[in-house]
Amino acid sequence: MAESRPRVWVSQPLFDDLVDQLRAHCDVETTQAVTTYTAEQLAQKLAPLDGALITLNERIGATEIAQAPRLRALANVAVGYNNLDIAALSAAGVAVTNTPDVLTETTADLGFALLMATARRITEAEAFLREGRWGKWSFTTLLGADLHGSTLGILGMGRIGQAIARRARGFGMRVLYHNRSRLAAEVETDVGASYVPFDDLLRSSDHLVLVLPYTPASHHLIGAAALAKMKSTATLVNIARGGIVDELALADALAHGRLAGAGLDVFEGEPTVRPELLALKNVVLTPHIGSASLATRRAMVQLAVHNLLAALGFGPDAGNPPSLINADARKAAKTGGAIVGATTITATKR
Ligand code: GLV
Repeated sequence: MAESRPRVWVSQPLFDDLVDQLRAHCDVETTQAVTTYTAEQLAQKLAPLDGALITLNERIGATEIAQAPRLRALANVAVGYNNLDIAALSAAGVAVTNTPDVLTETTADLGFALLMATARRITEAEAFLREGRWGKWSFTTLLGADLHGSTLGILGMGRIGQAIARRARGFGMRVLYHNRSRLAAEVETDVGASYVPFDDLLRSSDHLVLVLPYTPASHHLIGAAALAKMKSTATLVNIARGGIVDELALADALAHGRLAGAGLDVFEGEPTVRPELLALKNVVLTPHIGSASLATRRAMVQLAVHNLLAALGFGPDAGNPPSLINADARKAAKTGGAIVGATTITATKR
């Protein structure tokens, strides 16, 4: 009897021409409209599957996979994977992959765009003009802060943090960073950044950018206490995950002049943005577009397709998906699981 083809599901509209590569080996169900799934809907979708291509909007853990005995692989089309309960998935033998590297430079570009827009009050200036308030040119209107010659703090010094540091060098900025582990001396020299303790980073930064993974340890790391240590003239940029910042504490600091501005691409309750943030002029807000260039979003889907096929045992990397997060899923793998070889774990680097 012929072996049945794996069943896979693509949870959101991606790029059909890339997703179609899955059809060479799998039966594929795609999704035509952007969809928000409840836990019950996800459980129902996953139940008959061998694998799925998912995005950061799908939150999947023990409950969602409880009825999915065949599930072997989830390819997350994102570098961050706080939407997934990795321990539960590993215990069930489900290989999880992400999309590192291909989005590094594009996301660093967006980080820099927010740094510049926040420091120079670009969205506030545009609103001022569009609303017809530019009655006379004034020497002291919309004064901002310089990036050149200032101190940039980077919290989280993985791939994207390092790419931001390299850009900062071109702007003549002094770059400080804090990270769970210090970079090797030669990498520090290469990116031109100096390691400092967390509190020193907060106190010394003229502009602080958050690029660290969202974990229980980083939940609300930037809260009232951390914000109080920052300069009142400083700006804060978050391109990591909204939950790293206590948004109410941030809004309060911004409203009362204890912080000059913020550039936010991510929000704790996204796509809902707190009214306290929306009400402020000194915040630049973008709808989680860090990696959203056409070329990069396509590269992410291509990598995820490659990872999914490899995790299901197909293609040149069959059994060794290049961006496997949970090598321990192999130990727990169900009989017939396709993950076989050793793979570098890149879980903590953004
Ligand atoms: C986007 O936020 C990602 O994690 O890729």
